[in-house]
Amino acid sequence: MKALVLSGGKGTRLRPLTFTCAKQLIPVANKPILGYVLDQVAAIKIEDVGVITAPETGQFVKDYVADGSSWGVNVTYITQEPLGLAHAVKTARGFLGPDSFVMCLGDNLTGQGLEGFVKRFKSEHLDALIILKEVETPSSFGIAQLDEKGNIVKLAEKPKTPMGNLAIIGTYLFSSKVHQAIERIQPSWRGELEITDAIQEMINMGFNVKAEILNSWWLDTGKKDDILSANAKILDEYIQREICGVVANSTVDGRVKVESEAQIINSVVRGPCIIGKNVLVENSFIGPYTSVGDGSKISRSNLEYCVVQENVVLSDVERMEDSLIGKNARVSRNQRCRTIKLHVGDYSEVEV
Ligand code: DAU
Repeated sequence: MKALVLSGGKGTRLRPLTFTCAKQLIPVANKPILGYVLDQVAAIKIEDVGVITAPETGQFVKDYVADGSSWGVNVTYITQEPLGLAHAVKTARGFLGPDSFVMCLGDNLTGQGLEGFVKRFKSEHLDALIILKEVETPSSFGIAQLDEKGNIVKLAEKPKTPMGNLAIIGTYLFSSKVHQAIERIQPSWRGELEITDAIQEMINMGFNVKAEILNSWWLDTGKKDDILSANAKILDEYIQREICGVVANSTVDGRVKVESEAQIINSVVRGPCIIGKNVLVENSFIGPYTSVGDGSKISRSNLEYCVVQENVVLSDVERMEDSLIGKNARVSRNQRCRTIKLHVGDYSEVEV
């Protein structure tokens, strides 16, 4: 079995961050989302991993994943124009050959490993296994309708009138029969070759397609608020108290990870929280569910539920919540105001 990890696409909903970064590389708890996806692939001992990249952002992905040795996998890069998930599979056909494969979207996070799905896929000799999760906004996702026995009745991509609330999450298992189905589908109204249409076609062709409901959390990190939720979830699940840097005249409460050479001075930090390497926090309050990237400097500021990327400078920001700050951004205050909410890209400068 091989793995195909989709790390291309346009990332339009996360602009301006995606002008200078692939959306799958936006960090949560100071680690790119793609890193968690590759951890899950590596955990099931798959050796050959195809990574789909887009022409504009592919180099960022290659710089991060390199030859895959950090995860113990062999990586083959496949450049694809973002013309749909089924188009990505079609583009990867040479890499996939006759093998079955697990396909993971590089911007989806789940709390459940892949092992159980692979076991079922193999033992039931399936041609496709899709994983589903109830959602509140079904028209934003691929949706599956099941009968009372759990068999798939129908699939639809982002239906205007959804026939249920079970979304297809970004983990799919396929036999090589998926390629026959992809040959038969046409681009959708949004001009993409949809994987949902390919799976529907597999059902129409009488292939063995099954669905399973995910029994843990799932997050699609397509937008700013999704990144913040993913950050909160990962901090909650994985961060343990570990103080490597310097804490002086400060209170550090709960599950806080302070990385090496970070300095917390005259400040309060309340977990779950991560403070990256070489970060300086002085005369500030860092509230729960906040990640501060390496090299950032925070002074006389209060923040909570934020993702602050690397080398950011924040000063005199009285209250910042629910914000995602890109690399090298500077935010400072020049007049009094109570709360600010920001979605700022790499290298931006903001004065409020
Ligand atoms: O998140 C789950 C949803 O993902 C499913 O419910 C939908 O059925 C499925 O179509 C997909 O919908 P999105 O609109 O969220 O897909 P998005 O365009 O965000 O792409 C998902 C990932 O795949 C993302 O990491 C970018 C990558 N991608 C996307 C396209 C369109 C590629 O690598 N190549 C592409 O051509």
